[in-house]
Amino acid sequence: MPTPSTRPTRKAVIPVAGMGTRFLPATKAVPKELLPVVDRPALQYIVEEAARAGLGEVLMVTGRNKAAIEDFFDRQPEIEAALEKKGDAARLAAVHASTEVAQVHFVRQGEARGLGHAVLQAAAFVGDEPFAVLLGDDIIDARDHLLEQMLQVQAEHGGSVVALLDVGRENIDKYGAVAVEPAGGPSDDGAVVAVTGLVEKPPVDEAPSSLAIIGRYVLAPEVFDVLRETAPGRGGEIQLTDALATLVERGEPVHGVVFSGRRYDTGDRLDYLKAVVQLASEREDLGPGFRTWLAEFVADLPAAGASEA
Ligand code: G1P
Repeated sequence: MPTPSTRPTRKAVIPVAGMGTRFLPATKAVPKELLPVVDRPALQYIVEEAARAGLGEVLMVTGRNKAAIEDFFDRQPEIEAALEKKGDAARLAAVHASTEVAQVHFVRQGEARGLGHAVLQAAAFVGDEPFAVLLGDDIIDARDHLLEQMLQVQAEHGGSVVALLDVGRENIDKYGAVAVEPAGGPSDDGAVVAVTGLVEKPPVDEAPSSLAIIGRYVLAPEVFDVLRETAPGRGGEIQLTDALATLVERGEPVHGVVFSGRRYDTGDRLDYLKAVVQLASEREDLGPGFRTWLAEFVADLPAAGASEA
C-alpha cells in the first residue's frame, strides 16, 4: 500500500457556491462562473486546466441558484441534434468538448460558511489522497503549467502546495499571505519555497510578505481533519488559509510555487474586462481581427480624464 503522501493526485475540487455580488445584476440569474470569457464560461477554462494536468475527476461544490452549472456540464441532446442536422461540425465539437473534458460531480454546500467549509464538503469524494483545489476567479494561461508544477512539487515533498504570486505589499490585504524560506530539492528552480506561516487577508503593515496565495492548491487529505476543527476566522468564515497555518504549525510540509506566468483575473469587473480583451487578442480565430480593431480603437481613445471634444 502506498503511503498517503506518495499517492498520485487524481481529483480536483472547484468551489462554485459564491454569490457573485460583484457582478450583479448579471448574477441574479446566471452564476458568475458561467459568465463568458470570450465564448466560454470562465469555469470551462478551469475544468480544462484540471484535465490538462491529468485530474479527470472534478467535484464542484455548489450552492443555491447554481443549477445552470450542472446543465452546462450535462449533455444537451436538442442542441446537439440541431447542430448535427445543420452539419455544423465545429460547433458540435465545441459543445461535446465542454461535456467530455472531465467527469464532473456535484455536492451542495448548504450554508455559505467560507472557503474552508466548501473544501470540507469534498471529504467523501476525495478520500485519503492528495487533491487539487482550483478557484474560479483566476484563469492560468494554457501555455503555463502551474498546476503540473505544483503536482510535481507535491509528489516530491509530500504535504500540501499553494500557488503564490507577488502582488505587491499594497494589495496583500485582499489575499492569503505567506511567510516563506528557500526550499531546495531536485525540481527547485528558485520558484519553489517552503511556507513557514500563513495569514488570511492581513492588514498591509502586518503582512509577512507580499506573496499572495492565488487560487490553486494541492492539498494533503489531512487538511479535512484540521478543517473540521477550524474556528471561523477572517470575515466570520472558516478559512482554508487558517487550516494550512495549522498544518504548518504541526510541522506538516507546505510548499509554495511562485508563479511568474500569465494569469487572467476575472474576479471583479475591471479585471474581467481586461481578461476578456487579453484572451480574445491571443485567440487564433478571433485574435487577428480583434487586435486590428483594438489598435485603432485605442489610438482614437481620449486619455483618461480628458473631456470629449
Ligand atoms: C480566497 C482565499 C485567499 C486567496 C484568494 C485567492 O479569498 O481565502 O486566501 O488568496 O481566494 O483568490 P477570496 O478571494 O475568496 O476572498
